Parts: sequence; C-alpha cells; structure tokens
Amino acid sequence: MPNRARRIQSKSHKEDLLRKIWDKSAVSCVVGLGYVGLPLAIEQARAGFKVVGVDTNEFRAKMVQSGKSYLHDIPAESFQSLLKDKLSATASYENLPEVDIFIVTVPTPLSKSLSPDLSFLHRACEQIATILKPGQLVCIESTTYPGTTEQELLPILEKSGLKVEEDFFLAYSPERVDPGNKKFTVKNTPKVVGGLGTESLEIAVAYYSQFIDTIVSVSSAWVAEMVKIYENTYRSVNIALVNEMAMLSKEMGLNIWEILDAAFSKPFGILPFYPGPGVGGHCIPLDPHYLEWKARAINFNTEFITLAGKINRHMPSYVVGRLRELLDRAGNALSQSRILVLGVAYKKDADESREAPALDIITKLQAARADVSYYDSRIPEVLHLEQPLRSIELTPKNIQTFDAIVITNEDSNVDYSAVVTNGKIVFDTRNATRGVKAHRHKITLL
Ligand SMILES: NC(=O)c1ccc[n+]([C@@H]2O[C@H](COP(=O)([O-])OP(=O)(O)OC[C@H]3O[C@@H](n4cnc5c(N)ncnc54)[C@H](O)[C@@H]3O)[C@@H](O)[C@H]2O)c1
Repeated sequence: MPNRARRIQSKSHKEDLLRKIWDKSAVSCVVGLGYVGLPLAIEQARAGFKVVGVDTNEFRAKMVQSGKSYLHDIPAESFQSLLKDKLSATASYENLPEVDIFIVTVPTPLSKSLSPDLSFLHRACEQIATILKPGQLVCIESTTYPGTTEQELLPILEKSGLKVEEDFFLAYSPERVDPGNKKFTVKNTPKVVGGLGTESLEIAVAYYSQFIDTIVSVSSAWVAEMVKIYENTYRSVNIALVNEMAMLSKEMGLNIWEILDAAFSKPFGILPFYPGPGVGGHCIPLDPHYLEWKARAINFNTEFITLAGKINRHMPSYVVGRLRELLDRAGNALSQSRILVLGVAYKKDADESREAPALDIITKLQAARADVSYYDSRIPEVLHLEQPLRSIELTPKNIQTFDAIVITNEDSNVDYSAVVTNGKIVFDTRNATRGVKAHRHKITLL
C-alpha cells in the first residue's frame, strides 16, 4: 500500500480506537491473571470497560469466572459484582471475544544461570499475533530489560503481517503494584507509559487515563522499561548497603537497628531501608539481573548492581553462620539441633514465599542436617523446597521444643513475647521483637 494510503488508514484506526476508549466501548483482554493481571483487570472493569482475562492456568481462569479469588489481598467480593457484565475469564485464546486492547502481564523469571527467561512473553505475543487485527493496541506490562518490546516482541507481533503504528499500536507500561499495600493501589499509583511511536503512546495514555489517576508518559518503550528496572535496582542497592552496614556494625559491637532509628530521624536526604536475611519476591531478586544481562550484551560492566546482588544473595548464608555461632555458644551443634524458622513470606504479612530468603535458609539448614520446621500464619505449606514442609502450630508447648528460633519475616499475627518467653535462643533478623520487654537476653538481633 502506498505511504499516503497507509497514513490515512493508520489515522482512522487511531481515531476509531480513541473513540471506543472515550465512550468506554473498547474491550480489553488481560493476558495473565496473576498478582499484576487480576487487580488490573478489576480496575478496568470498575471504570466501565468490558474486560476478559485469559490465563493458560485453567484453575485461575475457572476461579475468576466462578467468582472466587486465589490471591490473599484480592477478596472475591471485590470483583464478583463485575462478573455480571464487565469481567470474564477464559483459559483459551480461542474463546476470546472481539477485543481492542491486549494488556500482557505474564511472568518474566530468571533461568538457572540468572539470565532473563522471556519464554512466557514470547509465547503470549505469539498467541496474540495469531489473532491480532488492525486497529488494536498491545501493551506489555511484564518487567523486563530495556529494548525487549522493540527488539524481541515487535518482530513476533509483526509476524501477523501487520505493521506497528500503521495497523496496530504497541506500548510498554511497567506495573508497580505492591501486593498488600492498602494506600497505593492500581488506581492511585502513577503509571509510566512509553510507546513504539507517537500514535501508540497517545492511545496507551488515553486508555490508562480512564482508570488510573496519574499517567507519566515517556519518550519510548525503552525508557519505560528502564524506569521499572531502575526502581527495583535502587531498592536492591540500598538494601545491600544496609545489609553491609548491619554486618559491619555487628563486628564493631554496634546495634544497627538503633543506628537506623537515629539516622532516619533526619527529615531529608535519607530514605529508610532495613537489613534482613536477604531479598525476596518477584522483583528485587530478579530485575537487577535483567539489567546486568542486558548490560553485558552491550559490553558494559555493571559494578554497583552486581555487587548489590552479591551481598543480598550472601545474606542467607550469613544468617545460618550467625545461628551456628549462637548454638555453638550454647553447647549445641547445628547438625543436632531443632530449628524453627519463623516467617517464610518474602515480606511483612505477605501470603507468598516466592524467592523468599527464608526458603534458602531452610535449605541451608537442612543441608547442615539440622531438624527444621517453620511457622507462617498465612502460608500453611511450602512446596518449592526439595522436601515440601507444612507450617507447625505456634503453641507455647511447640515453641519450647526448639533449640533455636530464627525470625526471617515479620508477621502481625505472631505474638513475639510468647515466642521469646517460650523459646531458648531467638535470632531476630527483622527486629520483629522490638516491642518485647521480658527475657531480652534470649534475643540476638541481626
Ligand atoms: N507480583 C508483583 O508484585 C509484581 C509487581 C510489579 C511487576 N511484576 C511483574 O509483572 C509480571 C507478572 O507478575 P505476576 O506476579 O502477576 O505473575 P503471576 O505468576 O502471579 O501471574 C502471571 C500469570 O500469567 C499466566 N500466563 C503465563 N503464560 C501465559 C500465556 N501465554 N497466556 C496467558 N496467561 C499466561 C500464568 O498462568 C499466571 O497466572 C512479571 O513480569 C513480574 O515481574 C510483578
């Protein structure tokens, strides 16, 4: 088709889609109904759009479709009423109705060698390419390194025979959801958007502004991809710094928690980060490796980012080493000891243990032949260990049977006074026992 004709066609695709966005007749398809996709689908449906979620995990699709939730902080009541006419879910791309917008929120894990595993993104885009039609917008939200949307996903989508900016539109907008955060939700967390061209950007911004309060548009998808990875790398680096400060303070006989309380009294120039047994969740342990990998691909040697990952990954071994010392001092060998790991979620009050440092600690303790149990009020079973474990009951009698307790995550449902009263040795890597007054001699802080 001659260029002028293409321009006219693209203009009419853009105007059609913008009109559908403004009058809310646009139909959106969220690809991947996980921690990111489900709340995003709900928010769009609440704003008045028809939304269909597609998830290759049949269990998830069926649960949503039947008004049940599988995510702790997304109660079923928050979307049940939307199922009447706004929200639906399916496990098959073949069952999708006519849609105008695809929002892709599939996992972006790391391979065993710590390199990006884009297979879910590739597969999702291959599936979209088979049904892509002129006039549609595809927006990628999965976290990934700069360049992925343009270099990896665009070629897959263009296998459909359609051209970006002429026939369809493509943008990248990183998800910033913080599961469990009551103050900042999908709606009131500013959303960064970058397009593969001006038309794509304009349409993506128009769509997101219908259900998100603040949109921050940037000049390209590359920039938007880098923003997300920078945010998480920033956290990784600062956590590594405070972890190093904690290890150094211990050598100097100083209490890092007292130092931090005092340091964070400064009202400017410093932000609070706390030490711990390592980093967990789907972002901080993974995302900096995406950036490191991309940097290596262009022969750039990252130093800061790499060092931060090294320090954070070392923390579980450090915690096991400190615990071994505490037991030695009490005349017990780690290999002969019963250890209770308290808290396996990756952050305070989360219901998920993906990448949680507690799992690494459990594995290391088991390798040292310790007899390990765990308790977590929100996670009854941990499957992704060599031998799956079930949470014990946290009764005074049970607590008394352990030689040492290591607090690996803070949990609001735990009575830490009872833990300390009934425990023998308590190694607290989170300062969760800060409010405990009695028997403080039993507590050792990270
Ligand atoms: N969870 C968070 O707190 C968080 C925050 C910000 C960004 N992210 C990023 O968002 C992305 C998604 O994370 P998540 O935690 O929601 O993952 P998740 O594993 O909870 O959900 C992803 C869903 O995608 C589905 N899926 C995989 N391949 C598919 C395909 N081809 N078609 C349809 N569905 C498919 C899976 O079955 C799964 O249900 C990742 O890139 C992650 O790094 C996550």
